[in-house]
Amino acid sequence: MNDQTQRPAPEGTRLGEMWDILPEHSGRSERGELTIGGVDVSTLADTYGTPLFVMDEAGLRKQARRFIDGLRERWPNSQVMFASKSLPAVGMYRLAQEEGLSVDVAGGGELKLALAAGVDPERLHFHGNAKTDAELTIALDAGIGTIIVDNEDELDRLERLLERPQKLLLRVIPGVEAETHASQATGGAKSKFGLPMDQAKRAIARMQAHPFMDFEGVHLHIGSQILNTRQFAEAVENISSVGEFHTYDVGGGLGIKYTYDEQNPSVEEYLDAIVAAAREHLPADARIMIEPGRSMVARSGITLYRVVSVKRTGEVFVAVDGGLADMMDIALTDQRYEALLANRIDEPWTENVQLVGRQCESGDLFIDGAPMPEAKVGDLVALTATGAYSYTLANNYNGALKPAMVFVQDGEARLVARRETYDDLLATHAPALGEA
Ligand SMILES: Cc1ncc(COP(=O)(O)O)c(C=O)c1O
Repeated sequence: MNDQTQRPAPEGTRLGEMWDILPEHSGRSERGELTIGGVDVSTLADTYGTPLFVMDEAGLRKQARRFIDGLRERWPNSQVMFASKSLPAVGMYRLAQEEGLSVDVAGGGELKLALAAGVDPERLHFHGNAKTDAELTIALDAGIGTIIVDNEDELDRLERLLERPQKLLLRVIPGVEAETHASQATGGAKSKFGLPMDQAKRAIARMQAHPFMDFEGVHLHIGSQILNTRQFAEAVENISSVGEFHTYDVGGGLGIKYTYDEQNPSVEEYLDAIVAAAREHLPADARIMIEPGRSMVARSGITLYRVVSVKRTGEVFVAVDGGLADMMDIALTDQRYEALLANRIDEPWTENVQLVGRQCESGDLFIDGAPMPEAKVGDLVALTATGAYSYTLANNYNGALKPAMVFVQDGEARLVARRETYDDLLATHAPALGEA
């Protein structure tokens, strides 16, 4: 599809480098607009409004197959789970089920979304370091496939709640300090997730002794946006010291390319690294599971904004109709992004602008120095590689409404999540408003 991207980039732009960051099925229209899945951005913005999460559906499906086929070729006894916290949308759960992915959920809400989407409960895995009785009950009633136990209090709960055999994994701290933002590192000695190796052995013995606890193996997750594949291999090696089991779930965490300068390992390089470590350290007949989230969906998404104001105060501020409310990652993890003036991508990018949002924080700065043509009110801005954790973290800061999401493929767009309305915003306050 991407014949457009093969044409030389217009002079004075970075479009040539941009194609590796944009969704796989991106292109440019005759009028010099960005297209996703064959639909140009002004059609999307005019039809669905902005801010808008736009997902390249064929790109999502291809990436799912890359993980499933790639792992199966290297280690046939394997399973790929979609870490649904990265894009908890019913449309995505359904796509995951259709492509043969298993799914992990990290809370009662994600569980409800997955079940509503029709994900086979047997394919669901339930994570969390503080699962409540109520959540565990929903999971057990639904016939959830596997619960990934975090601690011994959870075992106490399960002892009370289990009425029939239940498959369990145990989350273990692998002792790998991931090279990523501190808030995204989860496998180091001080992690709040899982048990250290010595305590893990005690918890495993407890599960193995219980008639309804069908203990299958161990789980680890070292963190997110990790670009050094050696760290995944190190985690596999470390976890092997806990013992020999039927299943090893080695988590997610593969990083993606967000910026022009960033280099990321391919899915194949990542799989080579973990499978090489598994061949060396894990039992040959074990089942290996992985849980990619970000690397499954991030590149396939852009967020489309409309320019509301252009201010020249010495700096050039291009302000759009979204902000931290739909892009928390920038504040939470210092993640850097790229952007392009999506309705005029062919014009020379002559200015480096402060691309800012509309929330009341100076940290509401998308990009410090985004190259683009002279932006005007009404232009469209695409923030790239926003498919993971943006929708997840969207919130009502300054009364912002959670944006809509569309899946686009073969020249057709379909709405998978509608925009919140002011009525939605008011609904939870009905008691204070004297309404039922
Ligand atoms: C247990 C677990 N598995 C998988 C993931 C997905 O990680 P990523 O989106 O970096 O692939 C996470 C996210 O932090 C997680 O906590």
